[in-house]
Amino acid sequence: TRVAVLISGTGSNMVSLIEAGQAPDAPYEVVLVVSNIAGAAGLEKARTLGVEAVALEHAPFGKDREAHERAVDALLREHGVQAVALAGYMRLLTPWLVRQWASRMLNIHPSLLPLYPGLNTHARAIEAGDREAGCTVHIVTEGVDEGPALGQARVPILPGDTAEILSERVKAAEHQLYPRILMEFLRALKP
Ligand code: GRF
Repeated sequence: TRVAVLISGTGSNMVSLIEAGQAPDAPYEVVLVVSNIAGAAGLEKARTLGVEAVALEHAPFGKDREAHERAVDALLREHGVQAVALAGYMRLLTPWLVRQWASRMLNIHPSLLPLYPGLNTHARAIEAGDREAGCTVHIVTEGVDEGPALGQARVPILPGDTAEILSERVKAAEHQLYPRILMEFLRALKP
């Protein structure tokens, strides 16, 4: 399956997805990375791994979110993309794009959804006195961080954790979880 990864920044999950897809028996290959931020560090990392990486900034499209998404969508189609993985893509999607990729777009979120949708998940979990945190891979639907969960991983919250320390621990779990769930999802998708 030809997969595209959408990013806005570091791209550490993107790297895990690319690398797992390069294993000989992997059911997918990452063929394209798109970032809405031109300076995203992940773009260069993708190229180093031999994957085409394109910046398609939203700013020139002004307030017209859908126009930007139509450009993204066209790029995905041109590359024969069959499934999309959001990995730190920090733009809210319009219903239009979500419908184009219904049941073919996944996201990873750094909390145990339905707990803590949205931003600052780690600070909120620490603040609440939670004893564990984690991450969720889910199907993208119109509601933000609301689609059906496909898998979760849990990590402990330890005394003295800051949001940054916890974020590192959760990310290590994300890097294991996302490729595994994407593979399971794609294997089930095939007839
Ligand atoms: C991850 O924590 C992911 O769960 C969230 O954004 C972060 C992206 O990190 N959606 P990276 O760019 O993959 O390092």
